[in-house]
Amino acid sequence: MTALVLDLQSAARPFLSELGELPSLADPTAAQRTWRARMVNEHVSARVFGALLGQAMAAGLSAQRQTQLADFACEELRHARQCAAVVQALGGAAVAELPNLPAVPQHAEVDPLQALLRNIVSVCCLSETVAVALIRAETLQIGPPGLRSLLDQILADEVGHAQFGWSLLRELAPLPAALEQGLTSYAKVAMDHVIEHELAHLPDHRGFGPAAAQVGVCSGRAARALLADTLATVVAPGLLSLGIDARTPRLSQLCEEFAVPAGVCVIHTAKASDLQWAKLA
Ligand SMILES: [Fe+2]
Ligand SMILES: [Fe+2]
Repeated sequence: MTALVLDLQSAARPFLSELGELPSLADPTAAQRTWRARMVNEHVSARVFGALLGQAMAAGLSAQRQTQLADFACEELRHARQCAAVVQALGGAAVAELPNLPAVPQHAEVDPLQALLRNIVSVCCLSETVAVALIRAETLQIGPPGLRSLLDQILADEVGHAQFGWSLLRELAPLPAALEQGLTSYAKVAMDHVIEHELAHLPDHRGFGPAAAQVGVCSGRAARALLADTLATVVAPGLLSLGIDARTPRLSQLCEEFAVPAGVCVIHTAKASDLQWAKLA
């Protein structure tokens, strides 16, 4: 089958003026590659929320939540165009081959609510929560104000995508025991999957210096450590507080590698507007 090509050259243009000039790098290749890969990731994320919308309809979620999912798909498509503008501002072409896209799992073997919640745990509570941590860390190093503001817009949306999952699970809590059990089995698979997926996308290098970090090419090693920290001290305890045990031997191994202290456990105790993290023994 011929590979599909994503060409956002003209779609990115409206974002270029907002972005303004970026500093010229001696070798912009790594930065162009980073933002092009990001453009692809953002673009393909839209189809995930499209699939979640179908599942949310089947599970009878409120019209407001269904609308949010449709909005999220549009936001991911915009993120792709924004990243495409960064590729162009760095002197590259916002064109890339799309990878083979596996279908979003439908989980037809379980009832519609569990099918939806399995994907919500995987997408919102794992992937999007990790994305929030990684992007937030990155914003601290960004130099040009136009790029910082672009990344802040993306970050605000990703917070909404993560929060959708956490708030939905909290709304439904306490979950019936059978659902807790079903979600726990799936969450462990999803945990290991997100670890492998992120490690495959976070290169094991220490960055290319401050000039590259200012345009978003940060240390992959530091990002890997943040991944371990976020999964172990935010995601796993958050899910556990909802009756879903996502802890796996692979997560422990990752924590050991990055010296995330064993025994540190935080629990998500409040609403989105009032985040509080309580440390357990
Ligand atoms: Fe995004
Ligand atoms: Fe997202």
